[in-house]
Amino acid sequence: MTAAKQRVLSGMRPTGQLHLGHYHGALKNWVRLQEEMECFYFVADWHALTTHYEHREVIEQNVYEMVIDWLAAGLDPEKCTLFLQSRIPEHAELFTLLAMGTPLGWLERVPTYKDQQEKLKDKDLSTYGFLGYPLLQAADILIYKAHWVPVGEDQASHVELTREAARRFNHLYGREANFEALIAASLEKLGKDSAKRLEKSRKKFQETGDEASFDGAMGFVLGHAELSAEEKERLQGWFKGTGRAVLVEPQALLTEASRLPGLDGAKMSKSYGNAIAMREDAASVEQKVKRMPTDPARVKVSDPGNPDACPVWQFHKIYSDAETCAWVRDGCPKAAFGCLTCKQPLIDAILKEQQPMLARAQPFVDNPKLVREIIESGTQKAQKVARETMGDVRTAIGLNY
Ligand code: TRP
Ligand code: SF4
Repeated sequence: MTAAKQRVLSGMRPTGQLHLGHYHGALKNWVRLQEEMECFYFVADWHALTTHYEHREVIEQNVYEMVIDWLAAGLDPEKCTLFLQSRIPEHAELFTLLAMGTPLGWLERVPTYKDQQEKLKDKDLSTYGFLGYPLLQAADILIYKAHWVPVGEDQASHVELTREAARRFNHLYGREANFEALIAASLEKLGKDSAKRLEKSRKKFQETGDEASFDGAMGFVLGHAELSAEEKERLQGWFKGTGRAVLVEPQALLTEASRLPGLDGAKMSKSYGNAIAMREDAASVEQKVKRMPTDPARVKVSDPGNPDACPVWQFHKIYSDAETCAWVRDGCPKAAFGCLTCKQPLIDAILKEQQPMLARAQPFVDNPKLVREIIESGTQKAQKVARETMGDVRTAIGLNY
């Protein structure tokens, strides 16, 4: 077995300034992952076009600004690969090829399809491109053979569709014309007895779905020195009955991201006007927190409050240490202090959190060329991987004529 790091892939649409909700809900996690795995993060500008095809200037404004926000959060181009989707047309090629065998119903049933159409009523989303959104996302993921996709709960159905698309592809195209002969040759390498045992546990697995026989057999196959990586992959497909796994089924990585709500307690979103940008200036942060609504039952300073009915408390849960939290839980119901007093440690904590972000962003704000260079070299690295996969994919389908 190789010690290669598992691969992670994720993307974000450049449709607005990133805010502290993005930082706590996603970016903090991306930064952590770059230490442990081989991470690819990209700007999903084509996905942004599915909803903003009439307002592409929004996208243009935000592509590089978003990358600066990523760098501000601590993504390090030495540790992860940052790139731009539209610069790698191979994504579109895989999307087209996957589209051939994807039933319409799979896409119509993805819950975000109807949800988003309802939510974004001001936009005409009865387009072919918008219906295909999750399949384009599947191509983004599969082209890098990613194992893990860190996304929010709302994207879980897209990763599930990706798994189905990979399974279907492997089923349709993972069997070479001489598949059976190749399997027989590999089994021969293993020796008669092992081959027999493998046949037996394969039968059991396909009849009963017994995970233990799968794990046992794969442990044996993967550890076998005589077999090439391709043979191991093919044997795995033969065992499962799917054919060779040309594309890898990814898994959603749903970390319990600390969820930071908006200033009013609803989901933080620029369009709701309840967001604090990652690089918002200090005076504005202070003003926004001071104006945050609090427990509506607390009209006068002498009225007791209830933190559970107050959005400020949600912020304390993320930003404050145990001692400050205890001070709020204890003092608020006793009306021991006013709401502005309660908010001050939050203002301090947010400003403190922003310090290193602003410092990391500064060189890129001063010299935007640096950002373009990072994206340039990331795009080259990513494209190399994407091209390799497309080579496999074309061969598997039989398009090498
Ligand atoms: N749909 C994702 C979002 O809105 C963005 C995205 C596009 C993505 N392609 C992806 C995320 C591939 C993960 C993997 O947040
Ligand atoms: Fe909210 Fe703090 Fe005011 Fe209580 S004291 S209502 S927790 S802001």
